[in-house]
Amino acid sequence: MAGITDGRFCCKMTSLGFDLLTIGGYNADHNAIDAGLKIINRGRLEFNIAEEDLYQHITKEVKLIKNQSHYKGEVSVNLRSSSPDQIIEISKIPELDVVEINAHCRQPELIESGCGQALLKNLEVLKDFTSEVVRKCKKKVSVKIRANVPGVDDVMIAKAVNEAGADYIHIDAMKPGFNCADYSVIESVRKNVDIFIIGNNSIRDLKSARLMLKSGADGISIARAAIKGTIPFDLTLV
Ligand SMILES: Cc1cc2nc3c(=O)[nH]c(=O)nc-3n(C[C@H](O)[C@H](O)[C@H](O)COP(=O)(O)O)c2cc1C
Repeated sequence: MAGITDGRFCCKMTSLGFDLLTIGGYNADHNAIDAGLKIINRGRLEFNIAEEDLYQHITKEVKLIKNQSHYKGEVSVNLRSSSPDQIIEISKIPELDVVEINAHCRQPELIESGCGQALLKNLEVLKDFTSEVVRKCKKKVSVKIRANVPGVDDVMIAKAVNEAGADYIHIDAMKPGFNCADYSVIESVRKNVDIFIIGNNSIRDLKSARLMLKSGADGISIARAAIKGTIPFDLTLV
């Protein structure tokens, strides 16, 4: 969650049973940073790190988490960028395990600058972008998408991400107008694509977590229910 989930925040999560903690989203290239500034100017929380400082900054945030010796899991960084270059650069951080390409955020400023959800609008662009990151970085690669975006076929997106060689597809199974996930999206992707699915959206208790897994997700992720620095159920019981 931009502006919230930095290393310090994630340190509160290290003893709750997560396998993977994600920091960010960080605005990684010039276009995303410019968009982030516009978003800040209209009052929304964002991380605001200069492009030349980002590598050192993320290194420090990752180390904060990895220095928690009881935490045996991995660390991922969610990056918004209009091109693969800065994502490839950040992937060189030794302590980092996963880079996550943000094809999810829908703030108009980000979309206009070719970041976030804009990547969902052209399958070939998404596939080439992901392939280049996979080819040039030595870390695991996740692609975070938002489901049910008008004009976007979620199964085709998942196929493109899989063919590009990504390790994970992280699906925000948002169901517009509802306070629960659209589990049918996870079921369709599961049926058609052989890729590790991280299922996301409205997981706030054991029931929603189990339903996400039952729908075909291989793992779950939690954002808003963790915003207070804890989660309202015991992950180890899922
Ligand atoms: C304040 C806030 C900031 C967010 N920033 C990001 C972001 O930078 N990158 C991203 O991929 N998702 C971002 N998200 C989306 C969440 O990671 C998650 O996909 C979404 O909230 C649905 O999951 P949930 O129901 O568990 O919250 C953000 C969500 C919130 C509430």
